[in-house]
Amino acid sequence: MKILILGYGVRGRAYGEYALAHADEFEIVGIADPLLETSVAPVFASYDDALAADTGAEAVVVALPDALHKDATLASLAKGLHVLLEKPVGCSWAECEEIRTARSASGCAVLTCYVLRYSNYYRALQEVLRSGVAGDITSIHHLVAIGHAKAAHAFCRGNWAREEDGTGTLVQKCSHDFDLIVWWTGSRRLKRMASYGALSHWRPENKPPRAAARCIDCPVRSTCPFDAVRLYRDETALRYHFPDDSDAAMDEVVANSRYGECVYLGKNDSVDHQTTLMEFDGGLTVTLEMEAYSKERRRMTHFYGTRAEIVADGEKIVVKPFAGEERVITPAQPAGAHGGGDRAVMAAFYNLVKRTSPARYAALLDSALESHALAFRAEESRKQRAVGSCQEPDATNVKEHFAGTIMPHRETNC
Ligand SMILES: NC(=O)c1ccc[n+]([C@@H]2O[C@H](COP(=O)([O-])OP(=O)(O)OC[C@H]3O[C@@H](n4cnc5c(N)ncnc54)[C@H](O)[C@@H]3O)[C@@H](O)[C@H]2O)c1
Repeated sequence: MKILILGYGVRGRAYGEYALAHADEFEIVGIADPLLETSVAPVFASYDDALAADTGAEAVVVALPDALHKDATLASLAKGLHVLLEKPVGCSWAECEEIRTARSASGCAVLTCYVLRYSNYYRALQEVLRSGVAGDITSIHHLVAIGHAKAAHAFCRGNWAREEDGTGTLVQKCSHDFDLIVWWTGSRRLKRMASYGALSHWRPENKPPRAAARCIDCPVRSTCPFDAVRLYRDETALRYHFPDDSDAAMDEVVANSRYGECVYLGKNDSVDHQTTLMEFDGGLTVTLEMEAYSKERRRMTHFYGTRAEIVADGEKIVVKPFAGEERVITPAQPAGAHGGGDRAVMAAFYNLVKRTSPARYAALLDSALESHALAFRAEESRKQRAVGSCQEPDATNVKEHFAGTIMPHRETNC
């Protein structure tokens, strides 16, 4: 498949490396990124230059900043190109709908990079759930612990610090998790939802009195958990975000980029924690909790069923039947980011375009949009301080799903 990669940052590079390693399936006919100097394929300064050029591409990978997803996808579909689209599909529900309409008119495939769904771990978990071992699942508690270092990097200092530049923390981070919830809850429809969240800590009023604007100059950095010098220069966990991860490059990042700035400058407004409560038909309740301030970076899910509990911590799956022996399943985690999901989604895209009937394309995008419907609805609830209720609890498509009413939170004196 001849592909154009639009955006060659962290995500674009991950997909590019897969394509290069699978030359029997993929040929990269161009890469668009204004920051790219050398490349394995012809380079274009922007995605529209790449789409205008005569590259012979059959498909594109859209790994651009969130705010460009809609325009780049519409332009690609208009040229008859299949699209592997990073999430979020769009920055609003209206943008998602535009993409849905354009996909339909083009007859092309749009596959969303819900990489967790493709990972070995979550596939194994889904098999356990489908086996019925837990009986009827009555509630699901799902925690997304972003990790304090990653959260400071992405949602305070980085690309998703400001809601107006993309979608805010919940849609950005948890569209994956809403996708998993849609997968786990199957045909059950959302009935009600409420979401609460705030930016509590990374605010100017919490800046230590003597703190400097840049960590490298800061006299109190040794006591600060978000010290950029330690996070980028002395530790390695965040370095994969940069094309050059050498010590010298990290010194430059800390000295001159936004990633070296104090987290308390007030340049950010994305929330640092958010809890979403959902009720599906049949009384199934789901809680999704997203936390920036965690030591570890992990997802943890607890399923309560009428015959067993299932605890999934991202490494193991522990099945605890009320009668019978506890069972621990440790699915193999293949190499590569997201437990092998990044590679698997590229393989799925190849199969989709080369081997799958186009008749499946519409349902595939609709199902991806279910998670966006939930995530945007949760954001609506948080911002309007309201509880969302679906007018059509039995609705079978995302449009009706989204067309619920919003009721104000009941005012209570505490
Ligand atoms: N599926 C996942 O798990 C996952 C994880 C992280 C990020 N994402 C999504 O992937 C997308 C990319 O994220 P990232 O972390 O790679 O960001 P990034 O900032 O590392 O990369 C984006 C790249 O796009 C380039 N770019 C900007 N404007 C451009 C233009 N007009 N034409 C061509 N290139 C342009 C930038 O120079 C940059 O290199 C985002 O939408 C993000 O939300 C998905």
